[in-house]
Amino acid sequence: MVKNKKRLRRLLLKVSRYYMFNSRAEAFAQITHDRRSVRAFTKQQASPELLKTVFSLAQRAPSNCNTQPWQTAVVTGDRCRKLSGLFREQLDNNLYQMDFPYTGQYQGAYRDRQVSAASELYSAMGIDRADKAARHEAFLRNFDFFGAPHAAFLFLPENFGLREATDLGMYAQNLMLSLTAHGLVSCPQTALGFACDTVRQELQIDSSMRLLFGISFGYEDKQHPANNCRTPRAEIDECVQFFN
Ligand SMILES: Cc1cc2nc3c(=O)[nH]c(=O)nc-3n(C[C@H](O)[C@H](O)[C@H](O)COP(=O)(O)O)c2cc1C
Repeated sequence: MVKNKKRLRRLLLKVSRYYMFNSRAEAFAQITHDRRSVRAFTKQQASPELLKTVFSLAQRAPSNCNTQPWQTAVVTGDRCRKLSGLFREQLDNNLYQMDFPYTGQYQGAYRDRQVSAASELYSAMGIDRADKAARHEAFLRNFDFFGAPHAAFLFLPENFGLREATDLGMYAQNLMLSLTAHGLVSCPQTALGFACDTVRQELQIDSSMRLLFGISFGYEDKQHPANNCRTPRAEIDECVQFFN
């Protein structure tokens, strides 16, 4: 009788561990698949409490020697709109300033993937690839944060290099998954680093902090066609080799 009870308890434990593991794995798969770059937002702002929760989880990202080199500036509401106006003024006059040079020139498979992602986006928005003016207008939406009520600017302290920049990447992904898990959406944007001096000046950020990229975030505008875009991924054997 006692033996049977013990056996039953062990079995129940095994079953509950199995389900607990699977539900965690399922939750992870769901959040990972749900995260995507969203390029139109409603005006609704996330509460300060929610932002604190989301950013606290992002803080759990791993980093070289646990240096946690990310310095994040989060802007909201009117501050976004003000920055957006300043960006447009500068970019209209072709005054780009970047801490990290970017050309966006890729070759081979990388170029193919770039073209395929762009064509997914433009076709979702009903923009012909040959229509340069419409594509430029779509590009300029970057500098209005795609209408998002919040954005995070990610800075790397000077003298830190590629190795520490990877820490910012891990932090950024943690942040975007955390946003997704809490019902928010985001778009990482190299473009938000194209006026780095302006951002530093407006937010009074020390000149020793270098702007790598930004992330617009908020609640999804589900009516906007840009958000119907789904980017494909390469098969894993194109990117991963398993060795025995
Ligand atoms: C660091 C980084 C910078 C990016 N910069 C931009 C950007 O400036 N503008 C933009 O519209 N999308 C930008 N993206 C979004 C990518 O185009 C997008 O992640 C990619 O096409 C895959 O699509 P998904 O995020 O929807 O899965 C950036 C993504 C990353 C990771």
